[in-house]
Amino acid sequence: MATAVHTNTDQAFQRCLAPDCGATYDVGEVRTSCGECGGLLDVSYDWDRINVPDSLRWFEKKWARRNEPLCRSGVWRFHEMLPFAPAEKVVTIGEGQTLLSPSDGVAKYVGLNAGGLYLEYEGLNPSGSFKDNGMTAAFTHAHTIGAKRAACASTGNTSASLALYCGVSKLMKGVIFIGSGKISYGKLSQALDYGALTIQIAGDFDDAMQRVRQVSEQLGIYLVNSVNPFRLEGQKTIMYRVLESLNWEVPDWIVVPGGNLGNSSSFGKAFMEMLELGLIDRAPRLAVINATGADTLHELYEVHGQRWNDGQIDQQTTSAFFDDMDKHNRRASTIASAIEINRPVNYEKCLRALAVCDGVVREVTDQEILDAKSQVGANGFGCEPASGASVAGAKKLREEGVIAPSDRVVCVLTGHQLKDPTATVAYHTADQDEFNRVLASRGVQRAEFANRAVAVPNDLDQIVQAIQLNS
Ligand code: F0G
Repeated sequence: MATAVHTNTDQAFQRCLAPDCGATYDVGEVRTSCGECGGLLDVSYDWDRINVPDSLRWFEKKWARRNEPLCRSGVWRFHEMLPFAPAEKVVTIGEGQTLLSPSDGVAKYVGLNAGGLYLEYEGLNPSGSFKDNGMTAAFTHAHTIGAKRAACASTGNTSASLALYCGVSKLMKGVIFIGSGKISYGKLSQALDYGALTIQIAGDFDDAMQRVRQVSEQLGIYLVNSVNPFRLEGQKTIMYRVLESLNWEVPDWIVVPGGNLGNSSSFGKAFMEMLELGLIDRAPRLAVINATGADTLHELYEVHGQRWNDGQIDQQTTSAFFDDMDKHNRRASTIASAIEINRPVNYEKCLRALAVCDGVVREVTDQEILDAKSQVGANGFGCEPASGASVAGAKKLREEGVIAPSDRVVCVLTGHQLKDPTATVAYHTADQDEFNRVLASRGVQRAEFANRAVAVPNDLDQIVQAIQLNS
């Protein structure tokens, strides 16, 4: 049993993901790709030199010290699993205090036995999405190297999170890149309110991502998108908390929406490391769910059969796929704006995660996403459209028989219900014009689970009658 906590940065380094490159870099270097081969980087640890607990239960000790910020944070109470920065450099705002909640109502909708479905509410983070798990880690790294400005491209949640960390800590100025008309008002309002410099470019997320990489490099601004390997270290902790909530038992399935594929990649890394350290004896299966209008991973993994293959990825097929996408100017389009992404930057890391977790990928339509989202709302705290994809995906996998009725399934709800009220109100509205404007234009035909407001004249008798008729 470990007794002391060592988080010496000498024990951590950055390593190229490609096994035949494997170049390493100091944690003090700011990189978003390998200098040798251009590949993605991982944060790696020399575990032999780190006093890692020999049981996940060891982390329960931290609960008694919740008055200390690092023990209160749902990210940093697992500091021993992401020991790349010393405790005194950690920037935390109390992120990661989220809930895993069983929902029999959603289990029934998905087709699982009662007690088999759990919702991991990452919308309960300070900025309302799972991004805070990663932002505290990237911000900590940025702080250790003395960055004064930090940037990201975003479909809205990364930018809200970055803006919040900048606003609260006052350590850095946030610069965010968003596509035009591609961000929900809830998220845009956060970035503006928290005081980030907001650059709205004429283009979509994929364009914004390309530009922010160029601009950060040119101006020496610290990039916090999930190509930043430190960010993904923080997102691993979502899985530690899931296990913690299940009394350290590994569920059968983790189901997560896929956009830029940072979350799925970090989950895979978390399980890979826990297996390596003997902290768990099996990994859960991972299901990554794309929206039909933004289905690059689904196409490459399920249709073209791309695999991690110990790092020997068939680059030719991937390049041909993207060349064809460019040739036909195919652009991502889904009501789940958070995952409206065609060029996921963590694609290769996600393939590794799918290999570690015997994963599957599915795509779900905007109709399926909104119906599933409405069921989360009717049976729990609600979520934003992208998060509904995980429940819709679980339902699809259940219908296919890939998930069994008796399986224990965790659907990660990545963002808060209030992030995108436009989609929610349009689903429940009785105003056909509004429904058509927001939803029918995206192929959503019906709102089977709509909870319509009842319009009544301002008349006491008629109000009373309406309540009696409807309750
Ligand atoms: N769900 C929500 C609510 C998101 O905001 C995102 C990503 C995802 C799922 C997909 O996660 O990228 O790790 O696969 N949002 C990013 C952003 C892209 O800019 O906020 P992923």
